[in-house]
Amino acid sequence: MNNKITFLILSGSTKEYIDPVRYITNESSGQMGSAIAEAATKKGYEVVFVSGTARVMPKNVKVVNVITALDMFKATKSSFKEADIIIGAAAIVDYRPLVVSKHKIKKDCSNIIMSLKLKQNPDIIKYCGQNKKNQVVAGFALETEDLIPNALIKLKKKNLDLIVANGIETFNSKNATVSIVTSDMVLEIRNKKKNIIAEKIINETVRIFKSISPCKNDH
Ligand code: C5P
Repeated sequence: MNNKITFLILSGSTKEYIDPVRYITNESSGQMGSAIAEAATKKGYEVVFVSGTARVMPKNVKVVNVITALDMFKATKSSFKEADIIIGAAAIVDYRPLVVSKHKIKKDCSNIIMSLKLKQNPDIIKYCGQNKKNQVVAGFALETEDLIPNALIKLKKKNLDLIVANGIETFNSKNATVSIVTSDMVLEIRNKKKNIIAEKIINETVRIFKSISPCKNDH
């Protein structure tokens, strides 16, 4: 039996195709998820890294590449049971087109207003929170107002053990100010490099994991 602490880290953004050449996505660079994965491997933990599209990828980590939110959900479910700590740092696109056109959609119907029917994607980290068994599940909350109250609402709603709350200014930047929020503490980390923040996130999740599963080895 593998007695090492195993992380499952979700990172990058998803792409939701409209037709073979067009898609919906977002600006996530994957920097934070990548820094978290590197911090975990540096400490000797096992890492399964599920990555959507990203400009930044971690070194020395086994990567499972995915494209859509449904792919990410499938990859998550297949590694979920073996993971001790799951961290959802991915910017998953919330809605996907209801129908993906097999062929490039023509633009010759310019006199009509086109509408795109969307379907909600599964909330992957909520699934992890609701199905965890002696596991620690952590997520992120990007908020433009009422940062901590909104993060606490998400913590509860998704049954997470920890949430990293940050403002919009951390998107795509090297440094960040974040708050690590659990049900009984708020730890603010001001203007630090993402690898420093990543190390704190690893330490906090491992601390919580050891409090529920003291027998598992550190390395
Ligand atoms: O609800 P909101 O999208 O703000 O929550 C952010 C957290 O939920 C992040 O950890 C993100 O990775 C995760 N999430 C998810 N599946 C979605 C949407 C968000 O796992 N469909």
